[in-house]
Amino acid sequence: MALFAVPNIIQDLIPAAASESINPWTWNLNLNASGLYEYLPTMHALSKFALLGACAVQSVMGLPEPVERHEANLLKRNVDDWINRETPIAWEKLLCNIGPDGCAVRNQGVPAGVVVASPSRSDPDYFYTWTRDAALVYKGLADAFRRNYTEGLHTQLKNFVSSQAKLQGVGNPAGGLNDGQGLGEPKFMVDLKEFTGEWGRPQRDGPPLRAIALIRYAKWLVENGHKAVWPTIENDLKYSAQYWNQTGFDLWEEVPGSSFFTIASTHRALVEGAQLGAVLGKPTRAYTAVAPQVLCFQQSFWNAREGFVVSNINGGEWRRGRDANSILASIHNFDPSAGCDANTFQPCSDRALSNHKVVVDSFRSIYNINRGIAQNKAVAVGRYSEDVFYNGNPWFLATFAAAEQLYDALLVWKAQGSIAITQTSLPFFRDHVSGATVGTHAAGSATYNQIVSAITAYADGFIEVASKYAHSNGAMNEQIDRNTGQPIAAPDLTWSYSAFLTATARRDGYIPTGWGAGQATALPAGQCQKFEVAGNYNLPPTPVFPSNLTPAANAPIEQITAVPTGCTNPEKVFVTFNERASTSWGQVIKVVGNVPELGSWDVNKAVPLSASKYTSGDPLWSITLPIQAGSSVQYKYIRITNGVAGVSWEGGDNRAFSVPGATCDVQNRWDNWR
Ligand code: NOJ
Ligand code: NOJ
Repeated sequence: MALFAVPNIIQDLIPAAASESINPWTWNLNLNASGLYEYLPTMHALSKFALLGACAVQSVMGLPEPVERHEANLLKRNVDDWINRETPIAWEKLLCNIGPDGCAVRNQGVPAGVVVASPSRSDPDYFYTWTRDAALVYKGLADAFRRNYTEGLHTQLKNFVSSQAKLQGVGNPAGGLNDGQGLGEPKFMVDLKEFTGEWGRPQRDGPPLRAIALIRYAKWLVENGHKAVWPTIENDLKYSAQYWNQTGFDLWEEVPGSSFFTIASTHRALVEGAQLGAVLGKPTRAYTAVAPQVLCFQQSFWNAREGFVVSNINGGEWRRGRDANSILASIHNFDPSAGCDANTFQPCSDRALSNHKVVVDSFRSIYNINRGIAQNKAVAVGRYSEDVFYNGNPWFLATFAAAEQLYDALLVWKAQGSIAITQTSLPFFRDHVSGATVGTHAAGSATYNQIVSAITAYADGFIEVASKYAHSNGAMNEQIDRNTGQPIAAPDLTWSYSAFLTATARRDGYIPTGWGAGQATALPAGQCQKFEVAGNYNLPPTPVFPSNLTPAANAPIEQITAVPTGCTNPEKVFVTFNERASTSWGQVIKVVGNVPELGSWDVNKAVPLSASKYTSGDPLWSITLPIQAGSSVQYKYIRITNGVAGVSWEGGDNRAFSVPGATCDVQNRWDNWR
């Protein structure tokens, strides 16, 4: 039997610390009949310690009693073992799904840097590239790259940049690039052609997530003395600043409305994008102006009474709102510079911990495989309890996310040397340390020690659950059958492997580079404003990478830290056009005028207003545009019924006003259709 040859790229990719303890060449990797490799002997010896009761008494310093400690040690050892074996497999299988050479997709027309969601072509057909899946996978790859430079990974990142630059120009059922709407298309054929079937579109998390992934790499480029790959990032940021307040489908592609995950991702992209843009000398004011408003809106998903994030609002209320959506938002916006900030739902914040409990608990009784598991122990986690996709099951990526949030929290607690418990997070902590009390518990105190050991074991428990239901050869699907525990639905889901790798990287203490969250936690004074800044979108040129792109020193450099806030570049004054016009379904109101920013009276270049604030009681259309300070503006609104062929103009004289000299104050025009 042939030994499975671990490709060089995998060896390159395993983080240095891990590769010392894992030498793939010494393992018994055997090809089985179906060509998959598997480990001999099998590794699940987890049932023994389940017999050990949780009957330990806590000692004065909070260090566990012998029985409890024994149980924790066994758990740790089992989880360590599985992670050591799974890590190279997850790397291998993740890269297998990326074109052009990934083992599961090669010679199938998948261009370089394109992530296939799963190689499965039927039941389900996942042989497409989703912008979200690809961005999350590449975000993880970029973080891994930043902690350990390898040639192979670098090639992957450059390929991703090139593929996405091209993809942005592909017209599709969500629209085109001219007004940015096409960026909201959720998925494409693997050869980057449009997918024309019916689908839940647009999905507005794609552009911010892609910007986040690209920025990870772009920052590295800048830090190593090269210009970033800005044009592709910029389109996605403009989309985020323009369409953030409009409804779209959630990350599960089912609910049209406002999704917590999408909003949280948008906030991060705008903050991090403004930071990079400032370093590159690009205009960032739209991002700095909109970001705090997005954060403001994000607060409205919080249900304070029941202590959880209502994942979908403005649609989808038939669900109870408890959804792994919120846990994913928390881990993907992790930045220790924000400590345990609750506005950004940092993983260790009281809100995010309370939410973790409520979401995880919502899956305890509904899945048979979770039956009989004690309240303080990990269970298999799904998307949301009302899910019916494949009958509604736990998902690997959601179970890993539950672990990742806790590892994130542990990292921050240890760095801070304390754990704060509030009324909000008390129920979460009481599940694990029954005597926990509200207050700040310093490192070394009994409560601190009890919490750290209990939460470490709890987090490991989620990994253990996933390990129990993964295939014995290390392969993972999308889901875990709720009754039998069999891995089901999309096999080799790329996102499942990525979720394993990011969760276990946190467990190993790898903190991803921050996104400036620490300087972006403040809410704007007063009511949330929802202005949407119109962007102009350009097809990115084919990215060119300097040939001498190797890091000066093989270590991440952290130079980009200042987050621009407030208003830069005030020679462009923000003007919000507010027009009240009753319209019927399918009609759009646009503004057109004498200045270039208003299309120089060319109806084809008129700027569409947004109907996101439109109600039957208040038919408000609005858009915010940067216009040159001091301009004398003439303008009118037009109503478009069926493309520009069906233009109707407002009556009366042209409307007129003068833009003041450079100012940071947003100017409002309030008009009524006439
Ligand atoms: C329905 C699922 O619930 C959704 O999440 C999925 O993306 C589509 N079907 C396509 O598989
Ligand atoms: C269904 C999931 O709900 C969605 O989030 C994902 O993008 C696609 N499958 C592809 O993996």
